[in-house]
Amino acid sequence: MEIKVIADDITVIKAGAIILGFFEGTEHPDGKLANIDKALDGAVSQLIAQGEIKGKLNEITVIHTLGKLPAARVVTVGLGKKQELTQDRVRGVVAEACRLLQKKGVDDIALIPLGAGVAGMSPEKVAQTLTEGALLGSYRFRRHMTGEADYGDIRQLTIVDTDKTILPLLVQGSYRGRVLAEATNLARDMVNEPANYMTPTSMAEAAVRLGETYNLKISILERQQLQELGMGALLGVTRGSHEPPKFILLRYQGNDSPDVDVALVGKGITFDSGGISIKPSEGMEEMKGDMAGGAAVMAAISAASQLKAGTNVVAIIPATENLPGGSALKPGDVVTAMNGKTIEIISTDAEGRLVLADALGYANKLGARYIIDVATLTGACHVALGSGCSGALGNNQELVDKVITAAGEAGELMWQLPMYEQNREQLKSDVADIKNVGGRWGGAISAAQFLAEFAGDTPWVHLDIAGTSMSDKERAYLVKGATGVPVRTLVNLVLSLAKMVK
Ligand code: BES
Ligand code: MN
Ligand code: ZN
Repeated sequence: MEIKVIADDITVIKAGAIILGFFEGTEHPDGKLANIDKALDGAVSQLIAQGEIKGKLNEITVIHTLGKLPAARVVTVGLGKKQELTQDRVRGVVAEACRLLQKKGVDDIALIPLGAGVAGMSPEKVAQTLTEGALLGSYRFRRHMTGEADYGDIRQLTIVDTDKTILPLLVQGSYRGRVLAEATNLARDMVNEPANYMTPTSMAEAAVRLGETYNLKISILERQQLQELGMGALLGVTRGSHEPPKFILLRYQGNDSPDVDVALVGKGITFDSGGISIKPSEGMEEMKGDMAGGAAVMAAISAASQLKAGTNVVAIIPATENLPGGSALKPGDVVTAMNGKTIEIISTDAEGRLVLADALGYANKLGARYIIDVATLTGACHVALGSGCSGALGNNQELVDKVITAAGEAGELMWQLPMYEQNREQLKSDVADIKNVGGRWGGAISAAQFLAEFAGDTPWVHLDIAGTSMSDKERAYLVKGATGVPVRTLVNLVLSLAKMVK
């Protein structure tokens, strides 16, 4: 999709469709819509009078202009009540409109900065939001479909405003929106990819390509190096699989200091069968997405580099399959993590925390000042917070607050769960320093308590995206399948940390 920003009057734009907003409770078309109404001999007023255009959030009305305007269609989108408008609502409604038009074969769309000036939205923010909405909402994963698609892609999106002076701001905002949305879609592609295509090796290859494209330093640690580093927890998980593990490192050098400001650690289980503690077969295909955390941190560091975030970031992805097999890890086994702690395996299906234990150990070895880990870690978090909200847990309230603020800007819902000592006690083992499962209750919390042992004293936040990495329905800017959560949060966070570490 090509995205253009131009200074002009939307009513004279030639396009497949022009999109204008309409607030709930408005009685007559105003602003640009009034001019359009005139050109269409009162069609808009009539639709309002008849109650077809009400302005309810996400209501979309397509009016064919039949030659009365240069554009073939005028599309009004309901923005809901003016006082309730948010950036995320705009992102969602633009996505819905673009998806609908795309399905109708419209490939050339123009729109005005919807909601500019409302809810404190600057022209820059609005342009960013429109761009994100269009790119995220029209996303499709068709890589393995051999037939021709029912409809094509949107070729061009034009943001139009009469005020020339704000053009540079619109261009800037739109650029940021494009980087964020394309990074999100990149993560979606990786997560949607079947596990026979997205193996640890192909994940590493994807990292190498990203590194070359976005000027990131790349290293891939192989099994032998992991052995030398003493990563017994990660190596335990890989034992059932014939695919070699890959420990993927991407670095973005945003300033001259040798310090690592922030480590983004992402769970990279390319398929989670549960291992010897095998999962029920129903729905197991979803476990191809158990590397969503890894995909998210890879996408986020690429975006941070494109936006010249100014911080030094390292992305760490322990990538492996979790399969049963003759040499697989067994319940009751004890493994030793890189930091020397011994772990009793209760369930081989609690593998995410094992690979993360060593990845967190490595982040600490690098001396990272802040650590964020992202993982499809527990079904319990899905149960606790639902499918729209990720869990946030950590050992440093200031950093948790920063992450949640960054998420708010992105419209990615996140809720903090507590880290009580009681939940730590669930992990006491009779044979090792810690066990990898703390029972059924509070499973998202005890999982985070497990990770905390390996994060140590470094300010650290854990994001559990088990409930949010995949969507089972189309909604606003989400489509079925991978969501790309929390790529935009991570990029916002890295940008905000840049101010903190200077
Ligand atoms: N990858 C799963 C968690 C998951 C479940 C992600 C559903 C997305 C959708 C994780 O490795 C897992 O199996 N967790 C177990 C932990 C349990 C054994 C303590 C779980 O949540 O059941
Ligand atoms: Mn598992
Ligand atoms: Zn898993």
